[in-house]
Amino acid sequence: MGRCLGIYDMSSISAQQVQTHAGFRTGDGDPHHGLQSAETDLGDAVAEFVQAVGSAASPHSIIGSMHMLCGALEAAGNAGLPSELVRALVRPAYDLHGRSGFISRLQDWPRGYPGDYETIEWIASPTPQAAVDDPAYWLEWYALNCPIAQQHRNKLAWQRNLVHEASMRSGRILNVGCGGCADLAGSPSFVRDCDFTLLDMDGDALALASQRLRGARSTRVVQRDVIRGLRDVIGQGPYDLVLCGGLFDYLPDRLISRLLWQISGAVAADGYIAFTNISDRNPFRVWIENLANWHLIHRSEDQMREIVREAGTEPGRLVIERDATGLTLLCRIQS
Ligand SMILES: C[S@@+](CC[C@H](N)C(=O)[O-])C[C@H]1O[C@@H](n2cnc3c(N)ncnc32)[C@H](O)[C@@H]1O
Repeated sequence: MGRCLGIYDMSSISAQQVQTHAGFRTGDGDPHHGLQSAETDLGDAVAEFVQAVGSAASPHSIIGSMHMLCGALEAAGNAGLPSELVRALVRPAYDLHGRSGFISRLQDWPRGYPGDYETIEWIASPTPQAAVDDPAYWLEWYALNCPIAQQHRNKLAWQRNLVHEASMRSGRILNVGCGGCADLAGSPSFVRDCDFTLLDMDGDALALASQRLRGARSTRVVQRDVIRGLRDVIGQGPYDLVLCGGLFDYLPDRLISRLLWQISGAVAADGYIAFTNISDRNPFRVWIENLANWHLIHRSEDQMREIVREAGTEPGRLVIERDATGLTLLCRIQS
């Protein structure tokens, strides 16, 4: 038997009510028929999603209706529906997503910025914290287990391997935007052979990272913004590995080029700069942006090569792979 969520009575909600609730109508007789049908379809999709979640439908119905909603959002974007209208129309679905503690982090940025280390920790250990009978349970479960979350775990495994390899050289590692070093969770034995320099603007992230790496040969912590912080640590190279995992997705091209240029002077002769970026071929983009307020700068391989070229590095030295989901670009420059 379905349950009612209180604020939304699912039994009778219709597309028209969603649109009226949003306070917008493109209007009957609007010559822009495509716009109007995109609006109607989006309203219908929101109503169906709200109905599925509110009636505690099966996971397939809930997740299926969420994907239908994403399809309607894409169509609305293609039709040119104004973004304020889209936001207002999806609001009931956005609020339902926010009933998941994990998704509400993505929506509200409780540490004041997106992609904080606590969010990463949650992705790394992806157990839903919503109660199984909570209407948001399957949304949280899906958000933590679908490819857009898996890509981050794949990235962490890749980073962990790179640190392991560097530990077999001289083990001098600079980790820029290290977060809590979720890539080194469990303090693997090879950290004994590493000297870490950890740079992050978030002191709590650094505290967790230092605790994780207490078995390391040495750990130096720098709490600063990447621009100022790099100036402090660059002269203390050379490093066998400079790692910038999950950082560039938030930074503009020119700043990345500048940072890579700075870093390139601090890499040992057989060392690497390694960094990642979310791919521009990301079917989950419409979901994370419209229903989770998680905005990443998506990039293609060609864009990464151009950024590297602007940093004064021969693009041929850049090796780009994709993780198993295909959603993340794993980039390495060998010095
Ligand atoms: C998405 S997390 C990635 C953490 C870790 N590198 C990983 O791969 O899981 C981004 C980290 O970069 C840090 N960060 C973001 N912008 C920064 C900036 N401008 N300066 C320094 N740190 C920054 C955040 O505090 C956060 O810990």
